Amino acid sequence: MWMAVIAAGVALSALFLYWLLVSTEGVYLGRRVVVWLYDLTANRYDDIKEYDPGDEFLLVTRPVLNALSGIARPRVLDVATGTGRVPFDLLQSPHFDGHIVALDDSRRMLDVARRKLAPFEHRVTLIQHPAVPLPFPDKHFDAIICLEALEFFPSDEAAMYEMVRVLQPGRYLLTTRRRGREGRLFLNRYRSRDNMRQMLEQAGLRQIQFHPWQVNYDLVTGFKPRS
Ligand SMILES: C[S@@+](CC[C@H](N)C(=O)[O-])C[C@H]1O[C@@H](n2cnc3c(N)ncnc32)[C@H](O)[C@@H]1O
Repeated sequence: MWMAVIAAGVALSALFLYWLLVSTEGVYLGRRVVVWLYDLTANRYDDIKEYDPGDEFLLVTRPVLNALSGIARPRVLDVATGTGRVPFDLLQSPHFDGHIVALDDSRRMLDVARRKLAPFEHRVTLIQHPAVPLPFPDKHFDAIICLEALEFFPSDEAAMYEMVRVLQPGRYLLTTRRRGREGRLFLNRYRSRDNMRQMLEQAGLRQIQFHPWQVNYDLVTGFKPRS
């Protein structure tokens, strides 16, 4: 009898730890734990993710290029850039002639990004910094991107207000919403589409759209109104 109780206790503790450190990646333990976990996995991150370059271009790079068309030398901010996924693709495009600021709080993720982005070093600035507050003036960027990261910030809402603050009026923001079973594991941090739309509108975005993306994400786009 006691053995069964102890075994159940161990199994439940293991499940709880898995949820705390793997499913929700430390978000209930605070920013430093999240970033520490990314520091630990940085060198394996790209192998784990196995991005498809074709899908990346079609679903991420091309829409960003379209949103930037007609803007000379655009300034782009990638919040929580990780290993530089978005800058790497954008900077390879002959249609992009701008500069990218790639911000992340994990030094080791940025180390990987720095190696990948070495051929473009004059067109990208890597900054180790948390997403809140953003160390930039108001209305500074022509596009803001933040992929697969909002759910890990201490407050996705505070981060969104910061992103909208530094975005120029009339310009474009691209982010993601964690959905499906994985999304619901974030419990009170989970946002339905309606709930996320409301949060983005309150932060000041308009023309908000959701597009299913990868297995457990929506791509979410919006614009900051001109007035
Ligand atoms: C799942 S990765 C996404 C990376 C990249 N955007 C991509 O799509 O490959 C999440 C990133 O968020 C970063 N991050 C987590 N919390 C952060 C915070 N509060 N401020 C800045 N970066 C943070 C992590 O270091 C990690 O690089």
